[in-house]
Amino acid sequence: QWTTSSIVDEQVARIRAQIGGGKAICGLSGGVDSAVAAALVQRAIGDRLTCVFVDHGLLRAGERAQVERDYVAATGVKLVTVDARERFLNALAGVTDPEEKRKIIGREFIRVFEQAERDLKAEGDYQFLVQGTLYPDVVESGGGAGTANIKSHHNVGGLPDDLQFTLVEPLRALFKDEVRRVGTELGLPETIVQRQPFPGPGLGIRIIGEVTAERLEILRKADAIAREELTSAGLDRTIWQCPVVLLADVRSVGVQGDGRTYGHPVVLRPVSSEDAMTADWTRLPYDVLERISTRITNEVAEVNRVVLDVTSKPPGTIEWE
Ligand code: XMP
Repeated sequence: QWTTSSIVDEQVARIRAQIGGGKAICGLSGGVDSAVAAALVQRAIGDRLTCVFVDHGLLRAGERAQVERDYVAATGVKLVTVDARERFLNALAGVTDPEEKRKIIGREFIRVFEQAERDLKAEGDYQFLVQGTLYPDVVESGGGAGTANIKSHHNVGGLPDDLQFTLVEPLRALFKDEVRRVGTELGLPETIVQRQPFPGPGLGIRIIGEVTAERLEILRKADAIAREELTSAGLDRTIWQCPVVLLADVRSVGVQGDGRTYGHPVVLRPVSSEDAMTADWTRLPYDVLERISTRITNEVAEVNRVVLDVTSKPPGTIEWE
């Protein structure tokens, strides 16, 4: 019988065979995929794994602390944090095209890891790079037979030609629900295993228009409010994820207090899904929508309108870029 523990055993054996006596780096994003991939590799090669967490400045509120505190507490893994916020902002300056953003973010990610590798050289050679690529990522990036490239997922399609690592991708044959079961099998806490997906390019692809520090701050506030309200309504397990998207180049007229405003809209994109290949928009309770809308427009000065995305996938993808 094909059990979760047999998946773990098989992957651990494969990883050992691939890496041999070598050393590996794993980038942690804060999401379940990289967390489970790293935990699998750690089980296979122990402290020859070093995890690298890149703060690319496109994270949501509190995410860096979650990785540095919760994940390290749960696994005891060796972690290096790289603060690359300025580097990513500079690379993204003036860029509005979604595919270009994805490629830039993917490329910078790899470059930052390569820099981290050079910094780690003193302790020995790291030749392997662990990635939490899932089966749906492989298929949607054109890696499967007869499929088109829909979006460049940064962990598949955006790798530069001068890549200096051999990839280790222990989740490449798995769907999300299997990854969660593997995580539980490996003893990771529920908060990590049941975490909703968040794209590698982060808030960079949830700002429609140029990514700037100010816009990131606006989106971070709106997103934190939406997540807080969804969590306190007990809806985290009902929805697959709920991207909050800032339409940074759109303005609309509003009225707040006695004054006319000319602010930005944010879009709520709550979706239900099994594996992200298809999705339906989630019929959120009106009172929850109302609380989110009222709080965002009250607490985030630059946002004066909250709109709801009621498009399934297909035809809409889950993310707007
Ligand atoms: P789309 O927008 O293609 O998203 O319907 C499907 C799922 O994938 C997530 N996503 C990504 N995850 N790197 C990732 O690791 C990416 O570049 C990326 N783009 C989208 C998205 O949040 C959804 O869960």
